[in-house]
Order: sequence, then structure tokens, then C-alpha cells
Amino acid sequence: MEKKAVAAVAAIREKTDLIPKVGIVLGSGLGGLADQIEQPCVLPYRDLPGFVPSTAPGHAGQLLLGHIGTVPVVCMQGRLHYYEGYRMEDIIFPVRVMKALGVQVLILTNAAGGVNLSYRPGDLMLLTDHINLLGTNPLIGPNDEETGPRFPDLSHVYTPALRKLALQAADECGISLQQGVYLAATGPSYETPAEIRMFRTLGADAVGMSTVPEAIAAAHCGLQVLGFSLITNMGAGILDQPLSSEEVIRTADARGHDLQRLISAILPKL
Ligand code: 6GU
Repeated sequence: MEKKAVAAVAAIREKTDLIPKVGIVLGSGLGGLADQIEQPCVLPYRDLPGFVPSTAPGHAGQLLLGHIGTVPVVCMQGRLHYYEGYRMEDIIFPVRVMKALGVQVLILTNAAGGVNLSYRPGDLMLLTDHINLLGTNPLIGPNDEETGPRFPDLSHVYTPALRKLALQAADECGISLQQGVYLAATGPSYETPAEIRMFRTLGADAVGMSTVPEAIAAAHCGLQVLGFSLITNMGAGILDQPLSSEEVIRTADARGHDLQRLISAILPKL
């Protein structure tokens, strides 16, 4: 393990001996899922060596450890984005720490724009795959062979068996779930209508500014991954209305509850 990660794990172990099975990264406006953790151990990123603070709106910037139902989890309430100016290695550092804490499954959530014309704001999408248009890769640089291979296979980043469980859980909860490809763009500007049309041509169903770095890092270190997008708005040029981060947060607040219900229903199946 990297030295930095050893230090972070030691700092966390000083506060709790809980061994999380599932790691959950909460996206914009989705921090509410953390309220379901009973008596969480709350660790602000600023108190953890190697963690950088998160500056994005709707991102609290703390790690929570505890149980949701009977399942031991670690939650990132607030993630780091490339557009904040962080280095990729800082963005994926928490994934490596979660792996070192004992996590086996990583659940990634985000707020995203709809690219698929059949989507509507408020829809939930299960990620089947992704397209990395961040212009970089979080694994660039020296490779630690103990963490994972130099050239990791990304044929099945979003674990097929877990996707099946997610679809079952959604069915049981009466929650409808789209399935599609998430494209990561850097932001922070939203796209132009021409770019959204290009992304549709490329095979994207949703577009956002996160998730892909963590998913690549997770696949690299052998974590199973589940990804969910909350479609907070349609991409530029699809509806006759401007995009705003206020709308993103508002829709995430309004529809985040169903995603929380869904994840709570999936956890005991993992
Ligand atoms: Cl339309 N684009 C990007 N890049 N991120 C988003 C979004 C759109 N809507 C929510 N997040």
C-alpha cells in the first residue's frame, strides 16, 4: 500500500474499528443517504492525512463509517472533481483508502445530464459502462503492482452480477431504472448543444463531471463497482431552458430519496 494510504488508514483506525464492506460515494445533492447511517463515526477530510477538502456545492467533505441496516459501510459525503483543480491522484486517493479499509464493493453516485432523448429529469440510471473524455487517466504515472496491474482490463467495470442485483432491487421497490452509458466531461461549464449531440453520436446516455476516475481506480485495485446517475436535467439544447447548478441540486434533492431507498434495498443483497 502507498505510504499516504497507510497513514490515512491509521488515522481512521484511531477513531473506529469498523470494517466496511461497501463504500459509497455520494454525488451532488445526494448526501442524504448518509443520514441512514446509524450513529456514524464522522471524519472530516481535513482531519485525514492525504485527503484534500472538497469545494463543490452540495458536498460536505467528510467520511462516515457505520451501518446501514446490518451492512457496515463507509460513505464519502462529498467527492472531489477534476474541475476543482485537484490532481487525479488526489481524486482517487479515497478509493484506495476504502479498499485498504476492507471495502469489497464501491457504489458510485452522481448527478448527470440526460443525453438519451428518451430520458427525463428525475430519472435514475444504472451505469452499464462509461466513456472517459476527461483527457487524462487517473492511473498515469508509476504503477504500484501491489495495488493492481499496469494495464487493467476495463471490459466489466460495472460488475454485471451486481447490476443484476440492482435491477432486482429496483423492481422490488417499484423504482424504475434506466440503464446506460455515462460520459465524463471535465466541466465546469456545461456542454454546448453541439457537444451534447456529439456525445449522443458517441453512444452516451448521460453526461457528468465525475465518477469515471473513481471507477477506473476501483477496477484497477479489484473492487466490484455499481454506478448510479440521477438525471437532474437534460443536456444543453434538448429542452428549451438554460442549465443551472441550482436546478441540478433541486432535482437531486427531490429525487435523491428514491436513490437512497434503492441503495438501502441493494445493500443487504451484496
Ligand atoms: Cl448537462 N453536463 C455535465 N457535464 N454535468 C452535468 C450536467 C450536464 N447536468 C448535471 N451534471
